[in-house]
Amino acid sequence: MSQLFTPYTLKGVKLRNRIAVPPMCQYSANDGVPNDWHIAHYTELARGGAGLVIVEATAISPEGRITPACLGLWNVKQAVEHARIAKAIKQAGAVPGIQIAHAGRKASANIPWEGDDHIPEEDPRGWETISPSSIAFGTNLPKIPKEMSLQDIERVKGDFVAAAKRALDAGYEWLELHFAHGYLAQSFFSVHSNKRTDAYGGDADRRGRFLLETMAAVRKVWPEKLPFTMRFGVLEFDGRDEETLAEAIDLSKQFKQGGLDFMSVSMGFTTPEAVIPWGPAFLAPIAKRVREEAGLPVASAWGFGRPDLAEEAIHNGQLDLVMIGRAHLENPHWTYHAAKTLDVNKPSWVLPAPYAHWLERYTL
Ligand SMILES: Cc1cc2nc3c(=O)[nH]c(=O)nc-3n(C[C@H](O)[C@H](O)[C@H](O)COP(=O)(O)O)c2cc1C
Repeated sequence: MSQLFTPYTLKGVKLRNRIAVPPMCQYSANDGVPNDWHIAHYTELARGGAGLVIVEATAISPEGRITPACLGLWNVKQAVEHARIAKAIKQAGAVPGIQIAHAGRKASANIPWEGDDHIPEEDPRGWETISPSSIAFGTNLPKIPKEMSLQDIERVKGDFVAAAKRALDAGYEWLELHFAHGYLAQSFFSVHSNKRTDAYGGDADRRGRFLLETMAAVRKVWPEKLPFTMRFGVLEFDGRDEETLAEAIDLSKQFKQGGLDFMSVSMGFTTPEAVIPWGPAFLAPIAKRVREEAGLPVASAWGFGRPDLAEEAIHNGQLDLVMIGRAHLENPHWTYHAAKTLDVNKPSWVLPAPYAHWLERYTL
């Protein structure tokens, strides 16, 4: 009996299985507005059968975009088009989620297939970046960010709140705060990027303060009945891992106390020096530790794209949901592939009827 294909309920939301599509930037927007590309892409993914589809990192402000082609949710025009995406995902039977984000010092970059590096200073397409401290990420992202003032901190918190409200109005039912991957919130938590000497820097409690305060502010406007979640980098693979993980788990307990429902466990990506032990399902034991020690339900990504690995992670109690990213770009009907591989009864019926009927009827 497949565990991956059992439903999952969190707050007032029920997913049809434990498969989730993690946020994946499409770098295909103008002025942050979703267009036909996004509608087709997310509809296709939802029709593929996953229980949850989380829309890509969506910037809370123009300065919070990674690139000029990232999605946004700082105005009504964007929100109206987001409502089309949320509706399409829901109509296809998946729960519509969204990740709201601020890219911090990694903002103002060229899209990946046009360089993946910072837009040069003199290029009018670029903009000033902000971060807890005036320290650049380095390598392909050398731009030195402005150190955030206390007013900047308040403004960004307000932008997160406003974007969450728009996400709710647009019809999203699962909110993910992007506090991972070296973007703004993660860079407050990291010792590599946060050298502040005020209340927002120093020991782990102070480095966690921006995250806790932002989360608390958003919590007030996101309804209790819908999942309120976060993606968080709990370690960096920088040689400081036990210490970072202990700090991250301690902070995660505080997130839980503050009303967080669920965590997508990921990596920090705040230093180019990290030596990441890439491999199939390599974060599963780390996610399990967070699940057990912080007492939060968890998901993780990175290399679960083989159905047996996804099944095992649920079966072993490492994850509550499995995030399947690139394998969905390869095959948007990945859930059908997994259902067949795992001998689910009438696997075609994870797909919509106009596909499922024929696939189930003619098996030759
Ligand atoms: C094209 C692409 C875009 C991505 N964009 C995001 C994003 O917007 N937010 C995020 O948290 N992670 C992003 N990621 C990371 C994925 O969510 C996921 O963690 C990663 O692909 C590893 O999972 P996988 O091995 O199943 O592909 C992106 C990955 C890819 C391939």
